[in-house]
Formats: sequence, C-alpha cells, structure tokens
Amino acid sequence: MNKLVIEGGVKLKGEVTISGAKNAVLPIMAASLLTDDACVIKGVPDLRDTNTMIKILRSLGKGVEFDKGIVTVTALKNTNYVADYKLVSTMRASFCVLGPLLGKLKKAKVSLPGGCVIGVRPVDLHLKGVRALGADISIESGYVLAKADKLKGAYIYLGGVYGSSVLATDNVMMAAVLANGHTIIEAAACEPEVVDLAEFLIKMGAKINGQGTPIIEIEGVGHLHGVVHTIIPDRIEAGTMMLAALITKGDILIKNVLPRHLGVLIDKLEEAGANIVKSNNSIHMRYRKPLNAVNITTLPYPGFPTDMQAQMMSLMSITPGITIITEKIYPDRFMHVSELNRMGAHIQREGPHAIVEGVKALSGAPVMASDLRASASLLLAGLAARGKTSISRIYHLERGYENIEEKLGKLGAKIWREKE
Ligand code: UD1
Repeated sequence: MNKLVIEGGVKLKGEVTISGAKNAVLPIMAASLLTDDACVIKGVPDLRDTNTMIKILRSLGKGVEFDKGIVTVTALKNTNYVADYKLVSTMRASFCVLGPLLGKLKKAKVSLPGGCVIGVRPVDLHLKGVRALGADISIESGYVLAKADKLKGAYIYLGGVYGSSVLATDNVMMAAVLANGHTIIEAAACEPEVVDLAEFLIKMGAKINGQGTPIIEIEGVGHLHGVVHTIIPDRIEAGTMMLAALITKGDILIKNVLPRHLGVLIDKLEEAGANIVKSNNSIHMRYRKPLNAVNITTLPYPGFPTDMQAQMMSLMSITPGITIITEKIYPDRFMHVSELNRMGAHIQREGPHAIVEGVKALSGAPVMASDLRASASLLLAGLAARGKTSISRIYHLERGYENIEEKLGKLGAKIWREKE
C-alpha cells in the first residue's frame, strides 16, 4: 500500500483544471443500462470509483471502453440483472444500478451496499420509491430482489429523516422513465449531479421536468436511445482547491468550474473574509488577509455540502476564533477530528457538532485516511502544516480525486508517494 507524503508550508500558485464530477458520472454510467444503443460519456475522471462502475457494467453484460476521459458503453443485449456483492460493497453508488435494471429488464438483483465509516447509510428510500412504482421487493442473502410485470407511474414522497436522498432520487428517476404513466417525486434531491443525470436521461428521450427542484415529474416513455453527454465539473474537487489556496495563503486560478454550483461555499468563505473572483467557468482564489471563523451546518443542496465539511474543518482549524460545525446529513462523519488533533488542531466533538478552536499552526504528523473527504481534509492540513505529513490508506483519496498529486505538484506543493 502507498502513503502520500507532504512537506507543508508552500504557498500554492498557478492554474488547475477541475475534472468531471464523480457523483454525476456514476449514476449516468448506470443510466446507460436503460438502452441497448451506445452511450458516449465525456469528461469522465479516471478514478477508482469510475473504474468500479465500469466493472459493474461489464458484469451486467455491457461492453465498456474508457479512453482519454471518454467512456463508451456499447450496445449489448441480454443484460445480466445481478450486481454482485464484491463490487457493490466497495462503492455505495453501485446501488444505483437498481433503478435502470428494473426499468429496462423489470427485474434486478443488487447486493445491499452495507454501511461505511461515515454512518449507517440505509436504502429504505430507494426501496420505498421503486415499490411505489409497482416493484415487488424482497431481501435475500444480502441482496435486494426487485421484480415487476410492469412499472406504473406514481406519486412518491421521497424525503427521509435527514432530508432528501441523492442516489434514491437517481434510482427512482431511472426506474420511472420507462414506467407507464406519470410519476411525481416529491422531496427530490436538488443536487447539480441529479440535474446532470436528468439531462442525460432527457437526451436519451426521457420526459422529465422539475430537475433541480424538490418536485420532479416524469412521463414514462416506451423506449430510450443512445446519447453523447459531457459530465459537469466536480464541485467538491473545485471546493477543495479553493480551500487549498486559502489554507496555504496561495493564489490559484481554478478552471472548468461552475461557481453557481458552489454558492454556499463562496458565501461562507466571503463571510470569513476571503477574496473570490468568479467568472462563468472559473474561480480565482487569492489569499489577501487572515480569515475569521464562520460556523457551518451541512444540509442538502443548496445548503453547505457534507462532502466539504471535513475540508472546511481543516481551514477553520488554523483560523483564529471558534467555529461550530454541525453535521446534519451524517451525524457520525467526524473521523477526521482525531487525526486533525494529532496535527495540533483543537477540535472537540459534541454529538453532531464539532467545536473548532483555531490554532496558530498545525504540525506535520503521520495520519490515517478513513474515508474520501476525510482524506482531503488531511491533505489540506498537510499542505498547511509545518514539517512532514504522511497520509496512509490513500486509496480513499483515489476514489474521488483525479491525479491529485500531479495537480497539487504543478501548483508547487511538495507531495509524493511512498511505499508503506
Ligand atoms: C450522495 C453522494 C455523497 C454525499 C451524499 C450527501 C453520490 C455517489 N454520493 O450519497 O458523496 O455525501 O449524497 O450529499 O452521489 N438516507 C436514508 N435512507 C435512504 C437513503 C439515504 O435515510 O434510503 C439518508 C442517509 O443516511 C443520509 C441522508 O439520507 O443521512 C442523505 O444521503 P444520500 O443523499 O442518500 O447520500 P447518497 O446518495 O448515498
């Protein structure tokens, strides 16, 4: 296994180009199961997760090629309908093959994804949604078995204890596009990645309205065709780079980013005193003066993204003042707290809150990545810290950040890989 080593304290400077959004591309690749035609998906990041989805599609009978950021899913018939535990258990997003398999083949057998370090992560909303469309659901030996003679449009309230669900909205939308009649998904997730999936489905011939709002309406069609589509930029990678500029007191021009997808982060950073220059598709982050502490509460889009909580904690850990971070999506998503404290941060966890008391500086230390965004927070902390930080278990980082060492290296970071 490899670890990532960072010699901290370098001000990052230069330009960086953001890759396609991981959370958009995974369900979109799954949506290619809805047609026997070829689908061409552009701007696909080369990540562990996209490669897992390629394996899943192949295991389901699809031909898949991945070259220079373009995934081509080719037309193969007689698709297998069983998504295996070995693949699904490595990546929760693989559960979103349930909707398209059910829509296209009227049957699906998909392994339950299980929990993960950031929390329990149930799939009750996914099942509620496809059940409402007429699927008969049973759980056998760790698999969800879903069958339907035909799917019928329905009214579905999809809100849960923690609000809307991104992948449940994706799954239900993908099952409903080939159902008979009209479907209304209320309390739908509004994330830009859900909108990108809807746009992909519309290009395939689906009739969808209201994507990006809490009420999505779908009129079922009999057939979907092939499509060429470019994935939206990854707002979480872009947000991480914005914080990399601030935490290192640097100057980074971030390209291929849609600032309108980062409204709350931009607002919070401006409240903290950051200077941000936006255009339609770029963000210039230049450190000007010390920031002040700002409180954040994670919420479904357009609220503050839970996927930026850990990185924001790193920034606030060296910002003077007290920051209260409240996690309302995954109340246990605080694995990074103890690792940041090992680097000299003063952070106390109180249930779903973390109380961060800004310190003057962090000091490099050996730390362990526990999940994808926690890894990003340690990376940011390491870039800012005095001395050397080594992050082990970096396969978590490889799940979501394309060429991260190269990108940071080009900005001047002293970062390299070592064998553990
Ligand atoms: C997606 C993102 C992930 C992000 C998360 C929240 C992908 C591939 N992943 O995950 O990066 O952190 O959104 O923005 O897009 N819930 C239920 N029942 C369900 C489903 C979810 O109670 O059936 C709960 C979850 O436990 C969580 C909340 O709803 O508390 C939101 O989760 P959800 O939006 O479903 O997350 P994912 O779609 O799995």
